[in-house]
Amino acid sequence: MDWQGRKVLVTGGAGFLGSNLCLELVRRGAHVVALDGFLFGGGANPANLEGADVELVRADIRETDMRLVCEGASVIFNLAAQTSHMGGQRDPLVDIAVNAVAQVRLIQAAREAAPEAIVVHASTRQFYGTPHRLPVDEEHPVNPPDANGVSKFAGEQYWMIENRTVGRPVVSLRLTNCYGPRLRIRDARQTFLGIWIRSVLEGKPFEVWGGEQLRDMTYVDDVTEAFILAAECKACHGHIYNIGGFPPASLHDLAELMVRLSGGSYVTREFPAERKRIDIGSYYADDSAFRKAAGWAPRVPLEEGIRRSLEWYGSRMAQYI
Ligand SMILES: NC(=O)c1ccc[n+]([C@@H]2O[C@H](COP(=O)([O-])OP(=O)(O)OC[C@H]3O[C@@H](n4cnc5c(N)ncnc54)[C@H](O)[C@@H]3O)[C@@H](O)[C@H]2O)c1
Repeated sequence: MDWQGRKVLVTGGAGFLGSNLCLELVRRGAHVVALDGFLFGGGANPANLEGADVELVRADIRETDMRLVCEGASVIFNLAAQTSHMGGQRDPLVDIAVNAVAQVRLIQAAREAAPEAIVVHASTRQFYGTPHRLPVDEEHPVNPPDANGVSKFAGEQYWMIENRTVGRPVVSLRLTNCYGPRLRIRDARQTFLGIWIRSVLEGKPFEVWGGEQLRDMTYVDDVTEAFILAAECKACHGHIYNIGGFPPASLHDLAELMVRLSGGSYVTREFPAERKRIDIGSYYADDSAFRKAAGWAPRVPLEEGIRRSLEWYGSRMAQYI
């Protein structure tokens, strides 16, 4: 696909994954509109798009008229979401308003203003719940462990219905734990890795909860590439795909790697009770369907990704804490 001069809308464009995607699309010559409501507690950060040639629209998808931002867009990367699992438990009404109701608002606006646009929707592995088998493929039963899983599943399904009933080209990518530059590291709201990075850079021990759980982490550049390939791959339209990473590692292995690369230290703790109730245990994806369909494969191994992340935040801590 030639991205030169193409209008592209990225919802959640000031957040972690959205901003990295915006920057790559600009590099490819696209006219990028980033829509973001800078929701409290999320990954939005003005520093994420600093100096970038991106048209930033600060607006909330729960209330703004989205026809204007959709107008003329040929691709919509739909990443805006309430992403906090504990946040969804505390306030499921906000969670469902953003992740499900506002998705229907966007679907309706896009029907009017961008009827031809390809949509790549950011979905999540979370709603598979505790895996019945590993690795988890797309046929695995859905069993959301929390309110956020329910609302994210609903949002994805509204988009897939739009594909089946109206014929809109939609691809949904069920992401696993993503990490890298522009991740929220102030606290543990985005992933455990965020607060680990902050702790080691501040010379403090980080906490590992449990430790035996397996995770397949995806470096952000590989996620960006997956989004772009999903839009470009016609055969992918109308499908849902898992996105994984390199062979899974336990949290303890990840912690050891972090210590080796940063010189930091960690302590192991029991899982806090309120988090234990919504934890899914070990997870790793079977993402062979997307690899086959789109020719995608992750390129940045864990060690390299963590090294790059530590380096990147090293000079930017003030903007991110
Ligand atoms: N990062 C991961 O590991 C991961 C894993 C699975 C799925 N995902 C999905 O990927 C997408 C992006 O996640 P992220 O990690 O970049 O999170 P993020 O919090 O950094 O980005 C989401 C962005 O959406 C914006 N937003 C939220 N509600 C909004 C609203 N009502 N109106 C306008 N903007 C709003 C936020 O301000 C934020 O900038 C989300 O849909 C998330 O569910 C991410």
